[in-house]
Amino acid sequence: MPKAATRPVVLTGDRTTGSLHLGHYVGSLKSRLVLQEDHRQFLLLADAQALTDNGDDPARIRRNVIEVALDYLAVGIDPEKSVICVQSCLPALAELTMLYMNFVTVSRLERNPTVKQEIVQRGFQRDIPAGFLCYPVSQAADITAFKAGLVPVGEDQLPMIEQSNEIARRINRHVGRELLPEAGALVSCVGRLPGIDGRSKMSKSAGNAIPLSATPAEISAAVQAMFTDPGHLRVSDPGRVEGNVVFTYLDAFDGSPDLADLKAHYRRGGLGDTVLKKRLDACLQALLAPIRERRAAFAKQPDFVMDVVRAGTARAAVLTQQTLDEVRAALGLFSFGGG
Ligand code: TRP
Repeated sequence: MPKAATRPVVLTGDRTTGSLHLGHYVGSLKSRLVLQEDHRQFLLLADAQALTDNGDDPARIRRNVIEVALDYLAVGIDPEKSVICVQSCLPALAELTMLYMNFVTVSRLERNPTVKQEIVQRGFQRDIPAGFLCYPVSQAADITAFKAGLVPVGEDQLPMIEQSNEIARRINRHVGRELLPEAGALVSCVGRLPGIDGRSKMSKSAGNAIPLSATPAEISAAVQAMFTDPGHLRVSDPGRVEGNVVFTYLDAFDGSPDLADLKAHYRRGGLGDTVLKKRLDACLQALLAPIRERRAAFAKQPDFVMDVVRAGTARAAVLTQQTLDEVRAALGLFSFGGG
């Protein structure tokens, strides 16, 4: 592996609102497993960002810091290769956010398409928490503090990276040099995984998710409940493959060369949903069994998990503080040394 200093820096994060599910797995965890082999990868447990719309339930956000860390370890994130850190324990991020706030307008924040969509989803009217409107600024602080070159994310996060790069450019122009690098987005080729109802993306709050820690019975129940083709009543009927969640999942998780034949058979008629679901069930059981077992093993070692997160946060603290010092100096703020 190349020396740490020459490896490109990757940063991603997850809000710690709940444990992770299959959507996270195809959307980003899988690529993180590959990236950790030849990148300096930082994984941010984004508890501060989670608080921006969960300010009334900090206990849940705190609990899920550990749940998400367990999910990381369970899928194979290796703490020797990736740095796992807690956002709220990195004060440099908060200070950068405060400074960046002056390089972005309220109207620009209100135009962020993801934030706009989330405001509708959460039913905010005049009661949008200020922290929520500003979370893209805090995300810009995350991305730039680590000097990330690459941010693997789902499509919905593209506006955040765009906004982060805009802030970096404004600051660079202001200070007259390339102080903060711009980041590139790495979007998973699978795109977003629909929930088992097929209606929207998989999310715990929509009740259409399969968590990475699902038991065998929970996996089977989810596959049974999966949306297929409502017009496919008898086995002999021709069936639709497009919009059929079972096929979408087979494409994402099975990927065998004979899937094309299976789709053709389904379209012709003569292939029942039961056979299809059995195949997907077996595929998901095989994928999730080792993850669930590793998760259970790590859950029995809470001290180890805490040590991983503590050590990762300490490393991230050094790096993010360095960037903050550079930004403060470039902006010409006072510094009395020694903190
Ligand atoms: N916004 C991301 C999410 O919704 C979490 C996140 C916080 C993040 N900071 C980040 C992602 C920095 C990538 C880079 O899950």
